[in-house]
Amino acid sequence: MEKSLIIIKPSGVQRGLVGPVINRFQQKGLQINGIKMMQLDEEILRRHYAHLVDRPFFPWILDSMMASPVIVMVVSGRDAIEVVRQMVGATNGRKALPGTIRGDYSLSGQENIIHASDSPESAALEIERFFKADEIFDYPLAQKQFLYAPDEI
Ligand code: PPS
Repeated sequence: MEKSLIIIKPSGVQRGLVGPVINRFQQKGLQINGIKMMQLDEEILRRHYAHLVDRPFFPWILDSMMASPVIVMVVSGRDAIEVVRQMVGATNGRKALPGTIRGDYSLSGQENIIHASDSPESAALEIERFFKADEIFDYPLAQKQFLYAPDEI
C-alpha cells in the first residue's frame, strides 16, 4: 500500500486539532504506520522546504514551523498520497473547500494546519527525512476486507 508523510503543523498542535485531524484519516480507513512529536529545526526545514528558500516568506515559514513541536505521521492506503491531498485541500485555507481539513480549520496559506506529500517521489524522501526505518510499522490491517475490493488491495 502507498505511504504518505503528514505533518500536523504548529497551527494544528496549538489550536488543539491533533485529535480531529488524526480522526479524519482513521475514519477514512487509512492505516497509521508511524507517528511521533518532533521539534523541527532550521536544518531540517531548509531541506524540507528547499524549493521555497528563495521566496520572501521563507523566514516566516521557519518561524511558523518552529513555533512549537509538530506531529509527524506516516499513513498508508490505496492511492494514499492523492487521497490525503484531497482531504487536506488547497494550500490557502481561505480557498480550500469546506469539508477539507484546511477548508474547515484554516484561514491562512501559512497557518494551514497540515502538510502532506504531493507525489510518490516526495513521499519517499519525506518519510526518510522524518522517520528512522524502525519507527515505521507494517502490520496487518484487520479491517482490510471491509475497506477494499480484492482488486484494490
Ligand atoms: S508554491 O508557492 O506553489 O510553491 O506553494 P506550495 O507548493 O503549495 O507550498 C507552499 C508551502 O509554503 C507554505 N507557506 C506559504 N505558501 C504561500 N504563501 C505564503 N505566504 C506561505 N507561507 C507558508 C504553505 O503552507 C505550503 O506549505 P506545505 O507544508 O508544503 O503545505
